Amino acid sequence: MTLGLHERYGGYALITGAARGIGRAFAQYLAEDGFDLLLVDREADETGALAESLHAAHGVKAVPLVRDLGDPELIGEAQRWTNDYEVGLLVNNAGISPLDRFLEIPLESHLATLEINCRATLVLTHTVGKAMVSRRRGGIVIVSSASALSGSPYFCHYAATKGYGLNLACGLWSELRSGGVDVLAVCPGMTNTKPVRDRNLAADLPFYVPMSPPEPVALGALRALGKQPVVVPTLADRVSAGLLAKLPREWTLSLLKRSIEKMRG
Ligand SMILES: NC(=O)c1ccc[n+]([C@@H]2O[C@H](COP(=O)([O-])OP(=O)(O)OC[C@H]3O[C@@H](n4cnc5c(N)ncnc54)[C@H](OP(=O)(O)O)[C@@H]3O)[C@@H](O)[C@H]2O)c1
Repeated sequence: MTLGLHERYGGYALITGAARGIGRAFAQYLAEDGFDLLLVDREADETGALAESLHAAHGVKAVPLVRDLGDPELIGEAQRWTNDYEVGLLVNNAGISPLDRFLEIPLESHLATLEINCRATLVLTHTVGKAMVSRRRGGIVIVSSASALSGSPYFCHYAATKGYGLNLACGLWSELRSGGVDVLAVCPGMTNTKPVRDRNLAADLPFYVPMSPPEPVALGALRALGKQPVVVPTLADRVSAGLLAKLPREWTLSLLKRSIEKMRG
């Protein structure tokens, strides 16, 4: 299936958190679309194996970049990647999501979340974005979360970091589009990936909490890129987000609290 994004943006797609989950689904669709790939992740074995399998399946170049995005050296790395490769599409996907009462999560863990969910996105978007603007073409995706649309108990700081991504993408969508660079915030709802399975959240979903596999999330995002500033990528999540948005915020937060408590058992 061709999305026509490689034709539009050219060059490499740089995907963070590419080894698993939603990032892996992005990598698969973008390889199929003809992009060479820069696969950034801290999981060495899975990143290497993914690079080999995408090269074998689609004949594209796939470069595994095994890095921790929380590393202070990321600023220099991002500049080197931008100098060494023409990055036509940047997918800021990696994120971590500590789940507990805000005050029970150690401050160090909150700070690590800020580094990965916000700082890495800022560094890559600023560095790669400059090169895109000078070429007058490119695409930037920031994976936010449906939790950014309302805030969320037990994911308080996570939802706040996702609000950062959402608002950064919206402002940039407006600033950069006349210069040929498309920007998109993606707000998935609950998606069946390792962090969700590891915490057993998928086991006992309330009937009103939909859960999608990662592929429709990535595909919905890629189809929306260049058309709008924000997408909730699956129909079930659009319905759920639309209903929640109509409720008074205090009702939404109570509903979220009840459903997360039910899922955590
Ligand atoms: N799953 C959901 O329900 C959901 C809903 C809304 C939004 N999202 C967002 O979607 C994005 C992808 O989530 P996912 O569920 O697909 O996650 P995932 O399955 O855990 O995949 C994320 C990948 O990123 C890697 N990663 C995390 N921190 C990193 C770091 N500091 N440096 C390099 N790589 C790092 C992870 O490695 P490790 O396994 O070693 O951490 C993992 O391979 C995240 O931004 C998440 O917040 C997810």
